Amino acid sequence: MESTVDWEPLIAAASAARAHSYSPYSRFPVGAAILMEDGSIWAGTNVENCIPSLAVCAERNAMTAAVSAGLRRPQALAVVTSTDPPSAPCGLCRQTLSEFADDLPILLVHPDGAREETRLAELLPRRFHLPPR
Ligand code: THU
Repeated sequence: MESTVDWEPLIAAASAARAHSYSPYSRFPVGAAILMEDGSIWAGTNVENCIPSLAVCAERNAMTAAVSAGLRRPQALAVVTSTDPPSAPCGLCRQTLSEFADDLPILLVHPDGAREETRLAELLPRRFHLPPR
């Protein structure tokens, strides 16, 4: 079932962040924007490094920006990439998001207009979690 999220502000924020991508190695800019529990939107883009393992994805940069502002409950995520079909968040980002949300509507967006809605629970159906302490 489709969510009732107002995606347009999230797409705009993700697209704006994507324009600032630092991706000289992959030449693959990604933009992400996350809607939090207070209605605020936090954007991120991918930031690469000459040491490849230091690249940080757009989704994790958006999530950590929200957490750094004191917010912990993501409501929706939009990701903009120029693949066809538009790319879904990588495994690291799925696990990072799952730290803060059991499920989350996610919109995958191509700048030309293609859109696909999915959910975190669909992308990461059996996430890792520690036993209760
Ligand atoms: N990337 C993201 O920003 N998000 C993802 O979910 C997958 C990959 C970035 C990392 C790297 O800068 C580039 O895309 C190519 O992997």
